[in-house]
Amino acid sequence: MTTYEIMKEVIHERRSVRRYEDRQVTAEDVKELIDCARYAPSDTNSQTWEFIAILNREWIARIEQLTWDALHKRAEQAEAQGLAKEARLLVKSFGPYATAFSNAPALIICLASPYTSKFRERIFDPIGLVPSTVWDEEGIKSSCLAIQNLMLAAHARGLASCPMTGPVLLADQQIKDMLDIPEDRQVNMVLALGYPSDTPAKLPRKPVEDILRIIE
Ligand SMILES: Cc1cc2nc3c(=O)[nH]c(=O)nc-3n(C[C@H](O)[C@H](O)[C@H](O)COP(=O)(O)O)c2cc1C
Repeated sequence: MTTYEIMKEVIHERRSVRRYEDRQVTAEDVKELIDCARYAPSDTNSQTWEFIAILNREWIARIEQLTWDALHKRAEQAEAQGLAKEARLLVKSFGPYATAFSNAPALIICLASPYTSKFRERIFDPIGLVPSTVWDEEGIKSSCLAIQNLMLAAHARGLASCPMTGPVLLADQQIKDMLDIPEDRQVNMVLALGYPSDTPAKLPRKPVEDILRIIE
């Protein structure tokens, strides 16, 4: 197989996996994956990514619990606003989706650190090029690329993952408090990681013609 064929197979065969074997992921595995993650490109090589790897099932269960707690609280609020149907859907449909990491032996909290650069310091900030929220997005963009590297490397090593924002949408601050994450870090995604116990179906994608415009 050519390098391209191998690469294409890795990309096409990766899945978001939510059921895992009862087999531990080691710190060595995680270090190897982060070595791949950190070679993602980033704006001015700012490397706006950090990772917290949780290999302790009790800690993972605590994050699951605080996600459910936050979700139930939001459901109660929605119900109090007369949105009973939405509250029910939040618990029944979104709850399991947002806590799909519960069976994983490892959880990687993927952070985006503040974007700083000489460009920003010397030019962009003095002239107010863009609102400051744009710089938060800049950090997230590079962080996402690192996460994709991580997921592809995991798949190539026989591991599986599931990128998740569900817990972040519900319990961002609670996760930060529990893990002592500084306020200037953004929790980008939570990545479940482990050895897969099933291979979910390949979900369809939009046709290339529908998402590509070529200007020749
Ligand atoms: C930004 C983002 C957020 C996601 N959040 C969740 C989540 O909260 N829970 C979950 O089970 N999957 C989550 N996923 C996984 C998607 O459901 C999955 O990538 C999509 O259905 C396509 O399936 P595939 O990854 O197996 O190709 C998320 C994926 C992305 C990229």
